[in-house]
Amino acid sequence: MIRSVITGCGSYLPAKAMSNAEFEERIDTSDEWIVQRTGIRQRHIAAEGETTADLAENAARAAMKSAGISAADLDLIVLATSTPNNTFPATAVEVQHRLGMDHGAAFDMQAVCSGFVFALTTADQFIRTGQAKRILVIGAETFSRILDWEDRTTCVLFGDGAGALVVEAADSEGNVEERGILTTHLRSDGSHKEKLYVDGGPSSTRTVGYLRMEGKEVFRHAVGMITDVITAAYEATGLSSDDIDWFVPHQANKRIIDGSAKKLGIAPEKVVTTVDMHGNTSAASIPLALDVAVKDGRIQKGDLVLLEAMGGGFTWGSILLRW
Ligand code: UT7
Repeated sequence: MIRSVITGCGSYLPAKAMSNAEFEERIDTSDEWIVQRTGIRQRHIAAEGETTADLAENAARAAMKSAGISAADLDLIVLATSTPNNTFPATAVEVQHRLGMDHGAAFDMQAVCSGFVFALTTADQFIRTGQAKRILVIGAETFSRILDWEDRTTCVLFGDGAGALVVEAADSEGNVEERGILTTHLRSDGSHKEKLYVDGGPSSTRTVGYLRMEGKEVFRHAVGMITDVITAAYEATGLSSDDIDWFVPHQANKRIIDGSAKKLGIAPEKVVTTVDMHGNTSAASIPLALDVAVKDGRIQKGDLVLLEAMGGGFTWGSILLRW
């Protein structure tokens, strides 16, 4: 059988890091509240004129460099974002052009904070069916552009950034000891739309709109949905939390991350947490966290890595892979 193996990883953060203290000057909030309720200490904010495509291009180049490949070696780009440069064309196509790739295909994937899990799952399908041999999967966001900076319940939570992986086809016996994506599980339920959405769009308001969230309601569903798709990953592979080397969750809130790890019996030292430094970067949070843990030497070739995300839609999903 064919399996999708991760061969490269890269990320990019805008230069400006914005601390919680900077919010204290603008709105009725405090560093103490933000840290206690979310674990966030700072987030990066794109410079004026710096776009999702810029962040994506930088992350893509870093991932390609780490994989030792060039754009000529790629068949496909899948870019997860909810903050595209334009309503159309897809930001992926713009990145494809900037990378000098004049063959193959590129498209965007929209599943909000679960976007990277949806994009990597899609890439895995293309590889396992033999339709592509090498795919660049990017998560890139400029959520700062869709925040209501007067709304303290949302504006302190999000940040900008991008991360990318190179995924390649490899022959496999199909056992869990071999490298590559072992299992993927996606879910969505549109009945929760009003709990986390953007109040604008080309076809409804002809505006871009702002992010609106009933945080408590999202929180209430998060841990249950996350454990649901991770349990599915364990059932599909016969593996358990004891086998996991690294848990790399979507980074929305430290309390959700810790609560999920505890419920699943994943030891705290196996949890990769970057929400303190990045805030919630939506589709970019997982590849950003992966890149941090690869660069600091935690994630090594052959390690069993568990990814999960939950977000607007609601959408949620998990991926279990051997790095
Ligand atoms: O990535 C996509 C998925 N998104 C998420 O996973 C986010 C999920 N939700 C959360 O992370 C949390 O619900 C929040 C961090 C958004 C909020 O934490 P919470 O513990 O659920 O707080 P709360 O919404 O119940 O608010 C508690 C209090 C409220 O005041 P009252 O009504 O008790 O007087 C809020 O008005 O905290 C107040 N509050 C703030 N105070 C200071 C809300 N935002 C702030 C703020 N600074 N920035």
